[in-house]
Amino acid sequence: MAYIYKAGVVGGGTMGSGIAYVISYSGIPVVLKEIDEERAQKAYETIKSLYESRVQKGRITEDEAERRLALVEVTSSYEPFSDVDIVIEAVFEDLETKIRVFQELENYVPEHTIFATNTSALSITAMASATKRPDKVIGMHFFYPAPVMKLVEVIPALQTSEETVQTVIEFSESLSKIPIRVEECPGFLVNRILMAYMNEAAWALLEGEATAQEIDNAAREFGWPMGPFTLIDELGVDVGVKVAHILHEGYGERMKPAPILDVLIKEGRFGKKAGAGVYDYGKGVRPIEEIAEEMRKELGIQKRNSFDYNRLMIAMINEAILVLQEKVSSARDIDLGMLAGTGFPQAKGGGPLMYADIIGLDEVLRMSLEFEKIYGWRFHPSYLLKKYVDAGWLGKKTGKGFFEHV
Ligand SMILES: NC(=O)c1ccc[n+]([C@@H]2O[C@H](COP(=O)([O-])OP(=O)(O)OC[C@H]3O[C@@H](n4cnc5c(N)ncnc54)[C@H](O)[C@@H]3O)[C@@H](O)[C@H]2O)c1
Repeated sequence: MAYIYKAGVVGGGTMGSGIAYVISYSGIPVVLKEIDEERAQKAYETIKSLYESRVQKGRITEDEAERRLALVEVTSSYEPFSDVDIVIEAVFEDLETKIRVFQELENYVPEHTIFATNTSALSITAMASATKRPDKVIGMHFFYPAPVMKLVEVIPALQTSEETVQTVIEFSESLSKIPIRVEECPGFLVNRILMAYMNEAAWALLEGEATAQEIDNAAREFGWPMGPFTLIDELGVDVGVKVAHILHEGYGERMKPAPILDVLIKEGRFGKKAGAGVYDYGKGVRPIEEIAEEMRKELGIQKRNSFDYNRLMIAMINEAILVLQEKVSSARDIDLGMLAGTGFPQAKGGGPLMYADIIGLDEVLRMSLEFEKIYGWRFHPSYLLKKYVDAGWLGKKTGKGFFEHV
């Protein structure tokens, strides 16, 4: 395992400047590259203001802030990258741009330097293949806002060496982050599991089972910090829909996005930032339930009346079980990811697999089969769930499920 003495960041936008701040805050020198001097300076100002707000909140002294800020260098060239041990790229979400950055970097950095990408959905394996150091390319997926969100998904490409994985896990820990290991798959871990839940909420809305507000209220009653529709408005409906389509492409029918979200895009309802999304934030748009009614007529969808919030949670649990079944991640990391990445309610076990253990895996299976009868194939239970039930590993009540209960 290698030690990181100095890091590089390429791209100083929303994520890159936050990541450079996090690195310097941990006492590690960091150089950030932008396209030109003006943008580099802008990124520096963003980092500086992050430190200023820490000082204002009384978290660190002015002296400490100055010392840590002094670890940040901004630039428009790759020259200062000659002694970095890791580079995290956070440029636009475009495969060609990212590959170009890594190929350019190879002319400046030492041979041992790790190339980490903060991509949300692009192929890390394809990036690795395009470099002369595929064993040193890895995903390091920070969450927004990077200075606040503790989670980092560490995603090896097919070619990534174990040493690179371990170095990046240790490095993430040295940044006071919580790294979880995730094998590369569409949506990685958190977005994949969360989207299964959000999409189910959108189907329930489209089918007229409940209003957006009623569904959000049910989620809050369950213990979530906010409901799925408030969340998508906060994150950006455009961002959410893009992820939904990537997952559909990757997993097929099970992840087919509820078409109601596409209508929001057509109507420019991109979320809170646009003044309207699922909800109206002063733009004066029609209620989403009206759109749902129209769409039901158009698509010949029967209105349903009874809403069961378990529908959303079972969709989430089943996706989490599939992640485990595919060995994308461990049970511990799945729950940790959902806790740190989405705020899964602590009172409900702090993660979907622990929650499944609490309600009983036989009960999860029963509900899945019941929902499959009503909503179709996407609720078809995984073979892993059936095996656990066959083994009598039903969760808390039998002392063993996805976790051991003593
Ligand atoms: N914003 C989020 O919530 C979020 C969360 C997780 C991951 N991501 C991912 O992080 C990456 C960056 O996203 P963002 O929201 O910070 O984008 P952004 O548009 O805010 O920033 C991208 C920056 O990269 C710079 N850039 C582009 N090409 C460059 C080059 N060759 N050299 C140096 N700088 C270059 C641009 O000038 C821009 O400032 C994307 O891959 C995105 O998918 C974003």
